Amino acid sequence: MAIEIIATGRAIPPRRVTNDDLAARIDTTDEWIRSHTGIGARHIAEADVAASDLALEAANNALSLAIERGAVTEKSIEELALTIDLIVLGTTTQDYYGCPATACIVQDKLGAYNAGAMDITVACSSFVYGLEAAAGLLTVSPERKRALVIGAETLSRIADWNDRSICVLFGDGAGAVLIEKTGAPAVGPGRRGLVRSVLGADGSGAQALIVRRGGGRNPLSAGEILDRAPGIEMDGQAVYRFAVAAVTGTIEKLLLYEGITISDIDRIVPHQANARIVQAAGKRLGINEEKFYLNIEEYANTSSASIPIALDELNRAEKLRRGDVVMTVGFGAGLTYGGNLIIW
Ligand code: UT7
Repeated sequence: MAIEIIATGRAIPPRRVTNDDLAARIDTTDEWIRSHTGIGARHIAEADVAASDLALEAANNALSLAIERGAVTEKSIEELALTIDLIVLGTTTQDYYGCPATACIVQDKLGAYNAGAMDITVACSSFVYGLEAAAGLLTVSPERKRALVIGAETLSRIADWNDRSICVLFGDGAGAVLIEKTGAPAVGPGRRGLVRSVLGADGSGAQALIVRRGGGRNPLSAGEILDRAPGIEMDGQAVYRFAVAAVTGTIEKLLLYEGITISDIDRIVPHQANARIVQAAGKRLGINEEKFYLNIEEYANTSSASIPIALDELNRAEKLRRGDVVMTVGFGAGLTYGGNLIIW
C-alpha cells in the first residue's frame, strides 16, 4: 500500500505586482529586492477573494487534471469530489479568525460531502506537515482512500504595505495535491508515493515571526482604534539563520534516515521564501543549484502554498517522471520545519 500524489493544481491571482510597482510607492528598488531575495514579482488577490476561493480553484484544477490524465475512473469533478475522504488545508490567512476552518468552506463549495476537513496552521511548513498528516490519516483507516492537501494564502492581507522590510516578500496563491492510497508497494523495488517525512519545531523562536495582535494573548478590544492593521512582524536575520539550518538539517536527516545520498534525489522542492536561503543551504551541502526548483522570482513567498504551487508547475510541465525521487523542504513561523521524501 502506497500513498501517492495522483494529481496537482494551483491558483494564481491574475493581478501581478512587480518590484518596480512597489518601488513607485515605497522606498525600495528592484535591485535591492532581487539581490536580497530573488523576488521579481508577486500576485495579489482582489479584495473579495479569500484563501478558500484560491484553495477551491487549486482543488478544482487538481481534480480536473486527475480526470484529464486518467488517474481516476470518475468522469466529472462532482463525481470525483464525492470520493474524497479528507481535506487538509494549510493556511496562515484563514477566511475567518479562529473558526470555522477554511477547509470546511472548501469542502462545501467543492461538493466533497463525504470528506472530513481541517486546517493546519504551521505557517510555511503547513504543506509538509499536512501531507504527512493526511497520509497518516489515510493509512490508519481502511475506509479512507483519497485526500486533498491544500496550501492557500492571502498574505497580502497581513502584510504591512508601508513596511518595506515586509511587503516586498509576500504574495498570494494556492496549490493542491490529490493523494490516494493505492496498491503500489511502499517499500522495496518499484516503491512509490510518500516514503517518509521529517517534522520539527523550535517554539523558542515563536516571537521571530509572528502576527502579534488579534489572538487570545493580545485580543482586539471593542472601540479600540488601531494605528496599523494586525500583521506579520519578523526578525528577518534570525529567521534567515534558522531557515538555512532548517533546510540543511532536514535534507541531511531525510538522506540519513533513508540511507541514500544526494545523488539519489532528482528534485528538491523547497519553500520559496528567499532564493539566498536555498543557495546557502545548497552550498553547505555541496548540492548543485539546479537540483532545487525555484519559482520565487514570479510569486514571492506564498507560505503554505509555495511547495504545492511548485509541484504543480513541475507536474504540468512533465518535469516529474514516474520513479523520480522528490524531496520537499519547508520552514517558517513557529518556528517549524520539515520535509517529505516522495517517489513520484
Ligand atoms: O517564509 C517565512 C520565512 N521568512 C524568511 O525566510 C525570511 C528570512 N529573512 C530574509 O530573507 C532576510 O533577512 C530579508 C530578505 C528579510 C532581509 O534581508 P537582509 O539582508 O537580512 O536585510 P536586513 O534586514 O539586514 O536589512 C539591511 C538593510 C537595512 O538598512 P540599513 O539599516 O542597513 O540602512 C534595511 O532597512 O536593508 C534595508 N531594507 C531594504 N532596503 C530596500 C530592508 N528591506 C528593504 C527593501 N528595500 N525592501
